[in-house]
Amino acid sequence: MNTQLFPPWRQRLVRSLHLNRSQPQSRYYQVATVDGSGLPKNRTMVFRGFEDGNDNLLSITDRRSEKIIDWQEQENKTFELCWYFAKSREQYRVSGRAKLLFASDLPKYTAGEAENSQLIKTWIELSQNAQQAFYLDTPKTPFCDNSEISDIQGSDNNKLSTNIKKTNINNAEVIRNISENFVLVSFIAESVDYLNLRATPHERLLSDKSQSWQERKVFA
Ligand SMILES: Cc1cc2nc3c(=O)[nH]c(=O)nc-3n(C[C@H](O)[C@H](O)[C@H](O)COP(=O)(O)O)c2cc1C
Repeated sequence: MNTQLFPPWRQRLVRSLHLNRSQPQSRYYQVATVDGSGLPKNRTMVFRGFEDGNDNLLSITDRRSEKIIDWQEQENKTFELCWYFAKSREQYRVSGRAKLLFASDLPKYTAGEAENSQLIKTWIELSQNAQQAFYLDTPKTPFCDNSEISDIQGSDNNKLSTNIKKTNINNAEVIRNISENFVLVSFIAESVDYLNLRATPHERLLSDKSQSWQERKVFA
């Protein structure tokens, strides 16, 4: 792929990911939302790559989680994520709007659309443990032992075993059995604030999609 077509922040980010690849935590960022009463909420999420054909950052989540509630209450579904790369001592603050793709909407897709969707591609790439989490009880409900995977009843249990045994199953089967709680979050960047602590003085670059991602060097 021709990286010249990518905005400067993405080219830099790809380089940061490469420089920090030995550290698993370099794929985690903190994502902030604002809840219905105006209070900030912040949590860690895993970066799962760029969406095919654009610069959106992908993560996954559970549709029953509070971040989804925050976004569903807001027309613009705003976010800011903060990503620190410890080895190269760089920070990216990316803000914009979140696009939510719900597995529960798959019945509205044509068979071809579903099969080629980023939602299904991302689900298939998850580890068994990551898939299993979507079949557990609702986040924040009191924990009890009978919520464990081994006790999941009926069709949910069948769905789980279909999905976690990845061998010898085709995409159509995965689509039929994917957890309804699975959500692919696509973070659409509108502004990027980059800080490099390695440089002396510290380097800070601001860029906005509305200004064709042209970078402005500012005091840190
Ligand atoms: C290292 C790490 C990675 C995490 N990755 C994710 C993730 O990719 N998606 C997610 O929904 N939650 C992830 N979590 C859990 C969230 O930080 C958070 O606790 C959970 O999503 C509930 O948040 P909410 O109720 O504010 O939505 C991760 C937590 C840690 C510590």
